[in-house]
Amino acid sequence: MLCCIGTNMSSEGAEPIRVVVTGAAGQIAYSLLYQIASGAVFGPNQPVYLHLLDIAPMMGVLEGVVMELADCALPLLAGVLPTAKPEEAFKDVVAAFLVGAMPRKEGMERKDLLAANVRIFKEQGQALDKVARKDVKVLVVGNPANTNALICSKYAPSIPKENFTAMTRLDQNRAQSQLAAKIGVPVQNVKNVIIWGNHSSTQFPDASNAVVTVGGAQKPVPAAINDDAYLKSTFVTTVQKRGAAVIAARKMSSALSAAKAASDHMRDWFLGSGDRWVSMGVVSDGSYGTPRDVVFSFPVTTANGKWKIVQGLTINDFARQMLDATGKELAEEKQEAMDVCKD
Ligand code: NAI
Repeated sequence: MLCCIGTNMSSEGAEPIRVVVTGAAGQIAYSLLYQIASGAVFGPNQPVYLHLLDIAPMMGVLEGVVMELADCALPLLAGVLPTAKPEEAFKDVVAAFLVGAMPRKEGMERKDLLAANVRIFKEQGQALDKVARKDVKVLVVGNPANTNALICSKYAPSIPKENFTAMTRLDQNRAQSQLAAKIGVPVQNVKNVIIWGNHSSTQFPDASNAVVTVGGAQKPVPAAINDDAYLKSTFVTTVQKRGAAVIAARKMSSALSAAKAASDHMRDWFLGSGDRWVSMGVVSDGSYGTPRDVVFSFPVTTANGKWKIVQGLTINDFARQMLDATGKELAEEKQEAMDVCKD
């Protein structure tokens, strides 16, 4: 039996919120838990009670993570509940980071990976439906993130489908960082780069509406870079293949940057994105001619805990082809996932 950290109240006395992280013994969670518990996601005055879900064989490792969280002596950490039971983990949570997923093993076909994960996210959707708060905000990180989020939502019909999102923020952060380096400005000077579609190699990183502040003045990124070929080829492929480049160098997949992106995504959803667009995988309403009812990454703005797709952008021929390709992949993934659910 694992222990929990006792209940502290913050000096401000705000009620703790319950937040779940799945895959809590894994490498993304190892960075993410600190960010949540230190106030980087829900604000510096909001205590959190962390629910940590992993599979039974990982409970020993999870015990070590719980010890380390205690040893961080974080004033905002009101308590920790480590568990292998989804219904315990999801009880009364207001935010869910669904990071845990079946990793791709050697020789495993993409189809088999999808099938294994669809089963996990079906079960987790059912558990959320049963015990989570109806206003829970769900962020799916575990791959295939978009389709996992769709399945999770389908099996949690009592929770609005707007509350299920998939993470493409890491791709957005990568894209923003590439553009800032190319122009030679700090990363925060670039905004409104968009990731469209699937968190996969068909995603479309799009800088055509991005703006940059150079020398105190704002200008469009395409004008600042003045190299259309770069924006349509090297930029796009660098972002699409960045995950593989990190694996090749580190021999492990992106974790620090993935955790930071998950924090960014949830913080902006809870606290608002201000005047910046952010990319989130959300259930498509058919905007921009995309397939309806797949989880498609769009540019959104967030305020008062709700996201809204940025409308009215011009889609040129190149963008149309890219959106269609990633939309087609998502429609196919959805079909495969629904077939698995029938079994
Ligand atoms: P990891 O393998 O280090 O950790 C995954 C953890 O999930 C393990 O502790 C495992 O036991 C646990 N797990 C497996 N099945 C579970 C279940 N049914 N319930 C609860 N926990 C379960 O993997 P890492 O590096 O932390 O990555 C996690 C996922 O995030 C992977 O699917 C990875 O592909 C994905 N990812 C997504 C990104 C995105 O941008 N959307 C970026 C980077 C990674």
